[in-house]
Amino acid sequence: MLKRIFILLLPLFFFDAQAQQRTIRPGELWPDNHGVHINAHGGGILYHKGTYYWYGEHKAEHTSAALVGITCYSSKDLVNWTYRGVALPVDSQRGSDIERGCTIERPKVVYCPATKKFVLWFHLELKGRGYAAARAAVAIADKPTGPFTYLRSGRVNPYCYPANWTDTDRQRCDTLNAAHYSQWWTAPWRDAIRQGLFLKREKDGGQMARDMTLFVDDDGRAYHLFSSEDNLTLHLAELSTDFTYHTGRYWRIAPGGQNEAPTLFKYHGRYWLITSGCTGWAPNEARMFSADSLTGEWTQWPSPCRGPQAKQTFGGQGTFVLPVAGRPEAFIFMADVWRPKHPIDARYVWLPITFRDGRPVVEWRDEWSPSTFWSH
Ligand code: GAL
Repeated sequence: MLKRIFILLLPLFFFDAQAQQRTIRPGELWPDNHGVHINAHGGGILYHKGTYYWYGEHKAEHTSAALVGITCYSSKDLVNWTYRGVALPVDSQRGSDIERGCTIERPKVVYCPATKKFVLWFHLELKGRGYAAARAAVAIADKPTGPFTYLRSGRVNPYCYPANWTDTDRQRCDTLNAAHYSQWWTAPWRDAIRQGLFLKREKDGGQMARDMTLFVDDDGRAYHLFSSEDNLTLHLAELSTDFTYHTGRYWRIAPGGQNEAPTLFKYHGRYWLITSGCTGWAPNEARMFSADSLTGEWTQWPSPCRGPQAKQTFGGQGTFVLPVAGRPEAFIFMADVWRPKHPIDARYVWLPITFRDGRPVVEWRDEWSPSTFWSH
């Protein structure tokens, strides 16, 4: 009897897993086409030929180490996501940069028209070395779903000073003596950080690169934006025309400001940056900056978040701002609500960005539908 009931109900379960969802419910479980919670954390979105591709960190049950790799999902409506598999798997080879058990964070993919390749950058930490490596890693593919071919990883822009530094800036940095600043967080130490104390320390080996995003400007130039200098200062680094190298030209943003989780977008000719502070997996208040040119000057604004838990970025940490294709006024702020004790259960907070007095606002909603972007 039980068996018969089960067989009768089976199509219902099947139908349920396939059912089209209509709304995004920030912070709730988000089932993919198999009915499984999407596993693409710290992610970013690529829009290509009518389809959105979501890349993210595959998280395991009890560790944040990479056991699988970078996953890919696709969608046409931003609500219903189809699992497309592992775009870049970890390597079983011992000693490989991306050996199983390494740390892979915040993957982002852009399309390079010059080479017709999909270019994936991510933050890489070598297996068993905590967060000491602070490397940027790059891989390429012919198709958005991969498989991606791993190219290389390393620190960024060795021997280079920021592109906008004057001779005086360089000399001042060169004469900083680390022995005078062994104690952190003092006023003189903060000044020295702003003048490039850690930039000098890393200059020959290349700058540290952790939390990151990618941005392609309207002129087709691509940039890698990452937390550098021990997470104290953001670097915006120009990429080569094939998007797989750094050119050596970079600009510091908010020196000494301790920004992580950078997201960058352009609205009405102005660049907007939403970041977080540095409190590990615990949420903190988002920060916002704007500039009329990518090379600065950046102006800081209050957090764009409004509503319950706005002071904690709704319990999350930003990862990407998604410009909705064909809708120049529509952007989505994407954040992760981390669950470090049960990483696979981390949640997604996606909220539409509205603009008030020309400034981005991210207001909490229990439930919303991206279809509103297309209906007016
Ligand atoms: C966060 C960072 C995450 C991850 C985590 C590790 O601040 O944004 O990507 O690195 O720290 O504690």
